Amino acid sequence: MAALHGSSVAVVTGAGGGLGAVTAKTLGAGLGLAVACVDIDEASATRTAEELRGAGIEAAAFPVDITSETAAASLVESVHTELGSVSHLVNIAGVLRRTHLADTDAASWRMVMDVNVTAPFLLTQAFADDLRTAEYGRVVNCASFAGIRGYEYPAYAASKAALINLTSSLLFDFWGSAVTVNAVAPGAMDTPMLDRAAAERMAAKTPTGRILAPEDVAAVIGFLSGPASRGVNGTTTVIDGGASLLFSYR
Ligand SMILES: NC(=O)c1ccc[n+]([C@@H]2O[C@H](COP(=O)([O-])OP(=O)(O)OC[C@H]3O[C@@H](n4cnc5c(N)ncnc54)[C@H](O)[C@@H]3O)[C@@H](O)[C@H]2O)c1
Repeated sequence: MAALHGSSVAVVTGAGGGLGAVTAKTLGAGLGLAVACVDIDEASATRTAEELRGAGIEAAAFPVDITSETAAASLVESVHTELGSVSHLVNIAGVLRRTHLADTDAASWRMVMDVNVTAPFLLTQAFADDLRTAEYGRVVNCASFAGIRGYEYPAYAASKAALINLTSSLLFDFWGSAVTVNAVAPGAMDTPMLDRAAAERMAAKTPTGRILAPEDVAAVIGFLSGPASRGVNGTTTVIDGGASLLFSYR
């Protein structure tokens, strides 16, 4: 497939999921980027890529487990071949295991860390040269308010806290370039990850009276991915309707 956009390619992980699919469309339609739709779930990655192509956006599906040893290197190669050099990396893939101190074993802890923070680190490392040579490179990481406030599921909360710290720590590696690295920290969002049984309670505990739609978060990711955000770097934007300022959803 020929690259239409040259070096304006966004790699979006978790592109088959609730937030990833909406973000892929936001970046493709709003910023004119070609989109590499990465997800462990082949059917959903393919569906997102097809929807984008149906809307006239250059896109391809990459069914990849981002925790695999070879994921980063092989993604660089295959995205270059199918779409071109990468200007945007948006790390959205994430897993939440609803386990506590007593029932989180080491394998589950490591798996959550691998998906939520080690993979974003390795993917940023793998695409760093592309990002530096882009007109304006952007990395946007999807953390969670749980990474700021703490949460009852410690592996998830710790992984998101690490991702927030990684976001600001990577500035040193991109010093002197046009690359910015930022994160978003959503509160409860209406996607397959949401605990639906708790949705009404969480909406009632949110000052805006509603939980988030993925579009609410994708809009902020779109801004952080665009040229106008060039002065914003190393930050984490909380998007939760004000919920975490006042209390916990619990
Ligand atoms: N839904 C919420 O309430 C909420 C709140 C705060 C933060 N978040 C974060 O938002 C992001 C998007 O989640 P979502 O709500 O859209 O949930 P989702 O479950 O719909 O999407 C997550 C996607 O990540 C993919 N994924 C998981 N493991 C992977 C792997 N090893 N390799 C490649 N892809 C993998 C899944 O297949 C899925 O498509 C996540 O990082 C999540 O932690 C969600």
